[in-house]
Amino acid sequence: MDKGTYASNPWYERHFPEGRYRKIADDINNVQNYESELQDIDQIVHFAAESHVDNSIRDSYSFLISNVVGTQRLLEFARRHDIRFHQISTDEVFGSLDPEGDDLFTADRCYDPRNPYSATKASADFLAKSYANTYGMRITISNCSNNYGNHQHPEKLIPKTIINAFHSRKIPVYGNGGQIRDWIHVRDHNDAVDYIIDRGKPGSVYLIGARNQKRNIDTVKMILSVMHRDENLIEYVSDRPGHDRRYAMDPSTTESLGWKPRIKFEDGLRETVDHYVKNMKIYEGMLG
Ligand SMILES: NC(=O)c1ccc[n+]([C@@H]2O[C@H](COP(=O)([O-])OP(=O)(O)OC[C@H]3O[C@@H](n4cnc5c(N)ncnc54)[C@H](O)[C@@H]3O)[C@@H](O)[C@H]2O)c1
Repeated sequence: MDKGTYASNPWYERHFPEGRYRKIADDINNVQNYESELQDIDQIVHFAAESHVDNSIRDSYSFLISNVVGTQRLLEFARRHDIRFHQISTDEVFGSLDPEGDDLFTADRCYDPRNPYSATKASADFLAKSYANTYGMRITISNCSNNYGNHQHPEKLIPKTIINAFHSRKIPVYGNGGQIRDWIHVRDHNDAVDYIIDRGKPGSVYLIGARNQKRNIDTVKMILSVMHRDENLIEYVSDRPGHDRRYAMDPSTTESLGWKPRIKFEDGLRETVDHYVKNMKIYEGMLG
């Protein structure tokens, strides 16, 4: 099910193998209208969400409806039909780490969401945990670090930087660019989810990350270097309110299932730059 918000990328669906998927173009809040179509499914993997932090700071209402109420609707559906459920979540629910420190988020860390987006994801995770506990449902949760890769909406840091660099436009960087993110390629994230679905223990939480912490400014500089652009394109802009300083995952729970990330950041970044440059017109269109 995909409601097709501005962030969805229907163009990507040309990669889906013919006959092996069926899309319901609707809101997850309407899942109860599809009892007969969905009666044979044995798993729900719940990715759908409003995901852009800046939008949630401007107006969090749609985040509550999709991320919290929508998750409740899917959990209810899963409960009625005894369907295994996997909740996709984020490292942002854990809050922020000291940028000078070397500690990592672990699965037993207390939640400390610091923006409306992460507060709704945290709420959804708590709902999932409560359904596992209250109804004994087969539920797993994964919290993943920052994703990058082809087909991401150009509002996000890496594609936005590529597009601006391509046109030699100024590249806005929040604050001093010292925020640290733990980047993982989206294919590695999805592989990890497959491992968890196949081998994860119901009731457990799995952390996913590629042990790849980078300061935002260094990520931007890497992109500029791959694209042979000058660093004087960088423009420091006022920081986002409540901007978390460092995210860093301890992915050993997922690694213990046999998973490990396969894509090196440098290689994934080059592939991503190529993809956006080749399809520049499409992505610029998405920026409106
Ligand atoms: N992108 C990341 O770095 C990252 C990291 C960790 C976790 N996650 C999680 O992964 C999931 C996917 O993130 P993304 O970056 O692909 O987000 P995205 O915003 O790029 O895409 C979200 C998709 O969900 C759909 N959607 C939104 N609300 C819906 C609703 N009510 N009903 C049906 N469909 C709806 C949109 O149409 C879109 O296709 C989210 O749950 C997010 O919290 C993302």
